[in-house]
Amino acid sequence: MAFTALFAVVALVTAAHAAPSAPGAVCADGTRVGNAACCAFIPLAQDLQENVFQNQCGEDAHEVLRLTFHDAIAISQKLGPKAGGGADGSMLLFPTIEPNFHANNGIDDSVNNLIPFLSKHRVSAADLVQFAGAVALSNCPGAPQLEFMAGRPNTTIPAIDGLIPEPQDSVTSILERFADAGNFSPFEVISLLASHTVARADKVDPTIDAAPFDSTPFTFDTQVFLEVLLKGVGFPGSNNNTGEVLSPLPISSGNDTGEMRLQSDFALARDERTACIWQGFVNKQEFMASSFKAAMAKLAVLGHNRANLIDCSDVVPATVKTPVKPASFPATKSARDLELTCNSLPFPSLTTDRGAKETLIPHCADGGQSCPSVQFEGPA
Ligand SMILES: *[C@@H]1O[C@H](CO)[C@@H](O)[C@H](O)[C@H]1NC(C)=O
Ligand SMILES: *[C@@H]1O[C@H](CO)[C@@H](O)[C@H](O)[C@H]1NC(C)=O
Ligand SMILES: *[C@@H]1O[C@H](CO)[C@@H](O)[C@H](O)[C@H]1NC(C)=O
Repeated sequence: MAFTALFAVVALVTAAHAAPSAPGAVCADGTRVGNAACCAFIPLAQDLQENVFQNQCGEDAHEVLRLTFHDAIAISQKLGPKAGGGADGSMLLFPTIEPNFHANNGIDDSVNNLIPFLSKHRVSAADLVQFAGAVALSNCPGAPQLEFMAGRPNTTIPAIDGLIPEPQDSVTSILERFADAGNFSPFEVISLLASHTVARADKVDPTIDAAPFDSTPFTFDTQVFLEVLLKGVGFPGSNNNTGEVLSPLPISSGNDTGEMRLQSDFALARDERTACIWQGFVNKQEFMASSFKAAMAKLAVLGHNRANLIDCSDVVPATVKTPVKPASFPATKSARDLELTCNSLPFPSLTTDRGAKETLIPHCADGGQSCPSVQFEGPA
């Protein structure tokens, strides 16, 4: 079985590129790669950067990163293969089914943005989703350069509803879901949540768009791990939304939306099973980035045998080199605002940003109000 699957991948790749079958090749643009199969992803990366992300760690990049997770986690060891195939591209291949699940609210934007690339590039839907996530992340200062394995086939069935964790879920149910999906440890679950450092919610509070989860949503820094530990004082929009709890930086102004805190982040940061893991990422930039990379490598191949895939990490764009500041308390906040439950770790000593007023969080990466963003029409 394993041999047949591997052969299928190699055959597909050779047909697509008429490239040498021996590993190691030079692609059309001169890039040397470990396997000729990887060449197809070089023009795909350029196309995605030019036509979707525009080299920004903005809304379109955030949304595609979310999609990598929502596509991949839809798999269950308990329920078996009919429940979903993991990182199988089903979100793109069944755009009128999965994006309608409650937990996928808002995912239609990224699904519609990626679908056009399926017909323009000879890659499977699953490879497209995971590769696009790696390209998106390369625009975020501080992010790791993700691993990318190629060769996932196009799936033939959609995933069932109910497999994607939601912010109102309990810590127990979230940890159980991750264990069922792919034996993720609590450490790996918290590592994956580093993604919330470059995330904003459009739908948790229906009255506001792009509510960030930390004060630096365009930088892959450790602020989210710090800020979720601060005492909550208010809501950025309407009160009492499902899955949302009090935020430490709720002030909105003009187009700038105050920070939103997800109930699940709040709970995981304080639960005895995960609090020390959470706190352990505060101001540990390299450790957080490498832990996220390792957990993403596992997530991105859910439902596949790694041995049947081709390592194309050499075509993942290098991450933008903008330096990342150490973690700091947002203006007006200090260690007095911390709600710590991990007793076994000292809390790092951090400075407080200058300013007499609560930090406002810019709407765009350049600090302006009008950010580059695309939205293709599509079936989702
Ligand atoms: C996967 O399916 C999409 C949508 O039907 C199609 O455009 C694409 O060519 C398929 N890719 C592969 C590698 O089979
Ligand atoms: C949230 O809703 C509950 C019941 O629906 C209500 O008792 C409570 O006052 C509300 N809290 C806020 C902050 O609006
Ligand atoms: C909000 O953003 C829109 C679109 O960029 C802009 O036209 C408007 O002036 C902004 N409003 C404020 C208060 O800055």
